[in-house]
Amino acid sequence: MYFNSSKAGEGSGQWIFAKPVIRGKGFTITLRGNFQLMTMTLDKMLGIDYPIIVAPMFLISNTKMVKAALDCGITAAFPALNYRTDQDLREAIADIRAHTDKPFGVNLIVNKSNYKYNKQLETLVELKPAFIITSLGKPEEVIRQCKPVGIKVFCDVIDEVHAKKVEALGADAVIAVNNQAGGHTGKINPRELVELLQRNVSIPVISAGGVASVEHVNEVLSWGAAGVSVGTIFIASEEADVSADYKQALIDYGAKDIVKTTKLSGSPLTVINTPYVQQLGTEATWWEKLMNNNKWLKKYIRMIIALRGMKTIEKSTFGASYKTLWCAGPTIEYVHSVRPMREIIHDLTDGLEPANKVSVS
Ligand SMILES: Cc1cc2nc3c(=O)[nH]c(=O)nc-3n(C[C@H](O)[C@H](O)[C@H](O)COP(=O)(O)O)c2cc1C
Repeated sequence: MYFNSSKAGEGSGQWIFAKPVIRGKGFTITLRGNFQLMTMTLDKMLGIDYPIIVAPMFLISNTKMVKAALDCGITAAFPALNYRTDQDLREAIADIRAHTDKPFGVNLIVNKSNYKYNKQLETLVELKPAFIITSLGKPEEVIRQCKPVGIKVFCDVIDEVHAKKVEALGADAVIAVNNQAGGHTGKINPRELVELLQRNVSIPVISAGGVASVEHVNEVLSWGAAGVSVGTIFIASEEADVSADYKQALIDYGAKDIVKTTKLSGSPLTVINTPYVQQLGTEATWWEKLMNNNKWLKKYIRMIIALRGMKTIEKSTFGASYKTLWCAGPTIEYVHSVRPMREIIHDLTDGLEPANKVSVS
């Protein structure tokens, strides 16, 4: 585990400063041997103040959270799947646009578990959010359709193999999902992953996972990342519509209480280790594993596991249930109260220089 202290402890993160890169107003210069590489940062790419995304979170992201992020000079994305019907998705986008013309994104699950994928993509190509974040599958079709209409495509990746593939397909940036991320987590620690991807691709690398303060943001940027994507700490925002028990759990539990389970979606998902999770176990059963290893059955089994797991998560996200399944990452360590989005965002941006308030010479 990257975080190793108890909630009460101080200075739990092992954030180590990397070799310096030169970070300017809206760009990063990474020194590599005899070469200097200039990477566009997220703030410049989107024309926002700070290179931060409020990350898309299944069931949790809502338009209040997106609007608050945009008002504070950062961006946000929400999963298209948070809306049951096409009309609901359209209304969510219209609601944000009625509030502001600042750039926001939508997350698309691009694997077979998302049976609404085709319609969602069609609607997004028509409504043109500033960017789409693809996760859990091959983004080829999304890139092919979105690039010509000016929608940027950022692809979730967990290693350099996938990063190189999406770069070759034409992705505008990769989101480096590390082993500290909440949700479907990665395998590699934050700094190693950013540096690995930087060596292997030349598109911007946005780091996802483990960020909860401006010190963390600065540190990740010092590794050469183009920005950060932050999810978990926003679950405990006033704007999130989740149950009071869920928010309280983020306060009461710490990093040591986060476990990864494959029981719910077939892929490792971070959850709080509640008594129900302990009872359930975190490993898939033998028959789930067996069927998961069968090429033909895999997609159907994954769909069934995902549907079953997501139903249980949905129940405990919004209401009281003895089956308490709360998805969150290790940064719950830093959550001490429920606060408005703008205060949580302030903790991430206080002291950062707003890129677009200063012209780059
Ligand atoms: C409760 C929860 C739900 C998530 N749902 C999604 C999702 O639907 N799509 C997605 O691409 N990422 C999802 N993620 C991952 C986030 O987008 C982001 O990568 C992650 O939260 C960053 O790590 P952090 O939680 O340490 O800030 C989810 C994360 C959490 C905590």
